[in-house]
Amino acid sequence: MKKIPNHVAIIMDGNGRWAKGRGLPRIAGHKVGADSLKECVKVCAEIGVKYLTVYAFSTENWARPKDEVSFLMGLLADTIDREVESLNKNNVCLRFLGRLDQFSDQLNGKMRASMDKLSKNTGLNLNVMVNYGGRAEIVDAVNEWVKEEEGRGEGKLITEEKISSHLYTKDIPDPDLLIRTASEMRISNFLLWQIAYAEIYVTDVFWPDFRRNELSKAIESYGSRERRFGKTSEQID
Ligand code: IPE
Ligand code: IPE
Ligand code: MG
Repeated sequence: MKKIPNHVAIIMDGNGRWAKGRGLPRIAGHKVGADSLKECVKVCAEIGVKYLTVYAFSTENWARPKDEVSFLMGLLADTIDREVESLNKNNVCLRFLGRLDQFSDQLNGKMRASMDKLSKNTGLNLNVMVNYGGRAEIVDAVNEWVKEEEGRGEGKLITEEKISSHLYTKDIPDPDLLIRTASEMRISNFLLWQIAYAEIYVTDVFWPDFRRNELSKAIESYGSRERRFGKTSEQID
């Protein structure tokens, strides 16, 4: 592989359809999906991707059936318990980003403790977006900025830099490649600000089947893109 994206973002979708196609309950898809994430983390670390940002639970996903939401909360907690040691051994710097305070105290505590433990690691930066909404993030950023400005009483004009520097992702470069599994051609409130110039890759493959080979295909596709950032093709050559 020639051109490796610095930052890969993934909308991990299709767990329910994967399970349904096998006559299984939706939660079976979520369970196997956790294995796909594990494999993608491994592959990204191997090939030199520096940032991997995955959409695990949206601000809209609370509207799902109660049983499914509570299964997902349990899966998050179990996955943290099961994987933190090996992530640490592999030098992964882990972050959970989103409105974490809306989770139970127990889950919130687990997320914060695992982040603290892995925060000094210098390998792959893994960002897990939970109770995350792109709109909520922009609202939170602007509110934070307004509060700071009130304290200072100066220059009240907002700029792109000021918004960027107040997002949850403030010290994380924008994604180069955005992958969505399971066919849907939509963003579903993910990283609205940050994907302004991301290369988009949508595959029919359901998330539980998205493993090493599928990730390689996405990265190969990225390698063949010409990123112009508003310029002409001639200017890029
Ligand atoms: C993605 O898979 C996982 C979450 C949104 C938590 P889905 O559960 O959305 O699977 P589909 O889209 O119903 O197949
Ligand atoms: C997006 O998937 C959220 C996550 C992958 C966590 P959804 O399945 O919730 O998206 P929609 O509802 O089909 O747009
Ligand atoms: Mg879905």
